[in-house]
Amino acid sequence: MNRSRGLYFLGILLFFFLGLIASPQAVLGGQDPQESSSSASGSEQQKAVEAPSDVSATTEIQACQSCHGDITASFERTPHWKTMNDTRGGHAKQGCEACHGPGGDHADDPSKPVFDFKKATSEDTTDRCLTCHASGSEHLSASNSFHRQNNVSCTSCHSMHHATTREHMLIKREPGLCYSCHLQQKAQFNMPFRHRVNEGLITCTDCHNQHGTSGALEGDHLVRQVRASSSGDVVCFKCHTDKQGPFVFEHEAVRIEGCGSCHIAHGGANPRMLKYSNVDLLCLQCHTNSPGIHATVMDANQSHYEQACVNCHVKIHGSNFNGLLDR
Ligand code: HEC
Ligand code: HEC
Ligand code: HEC
Ligand code: HEC
Ligand code: HEC
Ligand code: HEC
Ligand code: HEC
Ligand code: HEC
Ligand code: HEC
Ligand code: HEC
Repeated sequence: MNRSRGLYFLGILLFFFLGLIASPQAVLGGQDPQESSSSASGSEQQKAVEAPSDVSATTEIQACQSCHGDITASFERTPHWKTMNDTRGGHAKQGCEACHGPGGDHADDPSKPVFDFKKATSEDTTDRCLTCHASGSEHLSASNSFHRQNNVSCTSCHSMHHATTREHMLIKREPGLCYSCHLQQKAQFNMPFRHRVNEGLITCTDCHNQHGTSGALEGDHLVRQVRASSSGDVVCFKCHTDKQGPFVFEHEAVRIEGCGSCHIAHGGANPRMLKYSNVDLLCLQCHTNSPGIHATVMDANQSHYEQACVNCHVKIHGSNFNGLLDR
């Protein structure tokens, strides 16, 4: 490099740093004048242009830090700090601006808005997060999420700066997080026979995908946001592998109607979380007690009516020995 070109670059550098002192806006990438009007309604915020500037994201974040010291310090301990090292998407995908949009005008004059999540609509918030989080199996069905359709946004459960859990940046841990809106389920997990969610043995999100699930549509949303097991089967098999079989003799009720035809997934008043306190009544929902049934064992000996069906049909979930499911 010859001497005059060296001076030329020095000049540019000097110009650049003077600019930085004079106006953070020049560095941070200013907003369109009409975008930075004092109103910060959701749709206007959404329009905020994501103009990348020529400076490093670290310089940008330092500008924010000068006034938002605590937030910037805590940000450095969150997983989003990783965006600082990923330059592929340009500045618009790094640091504070990845979520709050260009902050130059605001840093110049704090009365000018940046994207403010507290004022944003739930839809705008979710869209913003999904610019990065839409991929991966966990979030694949985010667009169908029943939560999303009901204005429960990402920030109803997550907090980017004031999370109380180290993992996953949650507002609160499970199940308290879920109970804050789902009171009916809170009651179900206080029933005598239940999955021990409150004790931390299993979590709501072991069975549900709070971010949305793929699967059969019921009306306009996916059935109860229930997860599938890794093999795509009912979620219950994830833990109750012994009920999956394969069995030589299946009980069609299990295979076709699913666990929910006999059990209440959350919990209830009956042992084994069954739908009915009387097991016979449960069976007789589908097996009418026609005279043909048990012509020998039951009708001949009335006392057998006193026995629960599962006293004899012990392999109620499936058998490898016979179709009567009795061993
Ligand atoms: C010169 C000081 C200053 C700088 C630099 C600055 N801010 Fe601010 N910021 C403020 C003040 C003051 C407020 C409160 C404004 C109000 O309530 O009207 C604020 C508010 C905010 C809010 C909205 C909070 C709320 O409660 O409404 C966000 C988000 C924000 N700033 C982000 C940023 C980001 C991102 C940067 C860096 C690009 C930045 N700020 C740079 C002073 C600054
Ligand atoms: C991953 C998205 C994301 C990033 C990155 C991010 N913020 Fe935020 N910011 C939010 C959300 C969401 C809120 C609403 C409150 C919350 O969730 O904690 C918020 C709120 C704020 C507020 C309002 C005051 C408050 O305490 O809630 C300020 C100021 C702010 N952010 C500044 C910053 C600064 C400065 C940076 C960079 C160091 C930054 N944000 C990075 C998403 C983000
Ligand atoms: C109803 C509450 C709730 C909502 C709404 C929600 N989350 Fe979550 N999210 C959680 C909980 C609880 C976990 C931790 C449990 C788990 O791993 O599933 C989590 C985990 C995550 C994780 C880490 C796990 C992974 O592999 O992806 C990311 C990233 C995430 N959420 C992003 C989002 C985004 C983006 C949105 C909005 C589109 C969102 N969340 C909406 C409750 C919620
Ligand atoms: C610029 C891209 C980007 C945006 C926008 C973004 N994130 Fe992230 N998010 C990331 C990256 C990168 C990670 C770190 C992933 C990792 O650790 O592998 C992350 C991590 C997370 C995690 C923690 C995952 C864990 O396992 O602990 C949560 C929760 C999360 N983001 C939620 C959100 C929410 C809510 C928003 C919107 C307010 C949002 N993100 C916006 C890129 C982004
Ligand atoms: C063992 C798996 C499992 C666990 C753990 C679980 N759920 Fe469920 N949940 C289900 C199944 C299966 C359904 C569908 C029941 C039906 O359609 O009859 C369901 C249904 C729901 C529904 C729809 C309304 C209803 O009651 O049918 C909500 C809301 C719900 N669960 C919330 C929660 C919350 C909150 C938690 C944690 C406190 C939780 N679930 C834990 C499996 C589970
Ligand atoms: C901010 C409130 C809020 C929080 C927090 C919340 N939910 Fe929801 N959830 C809703 C709303 C609203 C609906 C839709 C209407 C309804 O079914 O009550 C819903 C629906 C659901 C459904 C589907 C119900 C159906 O009928 O299909 C499930 C499952 C569910 N939530 C599980 C969870 C789990 C698990 C958590 C905790 C990780 C959680 N929710 C946290 C508000 C919330
Ligand atoms: C994440 C693992 C997990 C998943 C998924 C799961 N369970 Fe369980 N389940 C357990 C554990 C652990 C116990 C034992 C509870 C205890 O000891 O308190 C249990 C107990 C039960 C019991 C009562 C057993 C008894 O002896 O009283 C029934 C019935 C049951 N589960 C049915 C289901 C159904 C139906 C589903 C699907 C909707 C399901 N489980 C999904 C872990 C799971
Ligand atoms: C046709 C009704 C029916 C269906 C369908 C059904 N169960 Fe059961 N299940 C029962 C009955 C009845 C008992 C109690 C048996 C007893 O007390 O001897 C039971 C007991 C259980 C138990 C506790 C005892 C044990 O064997 O481990 C678990 C766990 C269980 N079922 C899980 C499941 C799962 C998971 C599914 C779905 C794959 C399912 N059940 C489907 C009727 C059913
Ligand atoms: C949701 C409906 C449903 C429930 C509840 C149910 N079953 Fe079944 N069961 C079926 C169906 C369907 C078949 C397939 C054979 C048929 O057509 O009856 C079957 C088959 C059987 C068979 C094998 C019969 C044969 O001819 O091979 C036995 C034994 C049996 N069930 C016992 C029970 C017992 C005991 C209970 C109660 C714990 C029960 N079932 C609950 C639907 C149900
Ligand atoms: C004392 C033992 C015993 C009890 C209790 C019992 N069964 Fe059976 N069950 C049998 C035997 C043995 C057979 C095969 C012989 C027969 O068909 O009479 C049978 C056959 C069946 C069959 C298939 C036969 C057909 O006609 O389709 C069904 C279904 C059945 N039982 C359901 C039930 C139900 C439902 C109950 C409870 C109301 C019950 N069983 C109670 C022993 C019992």
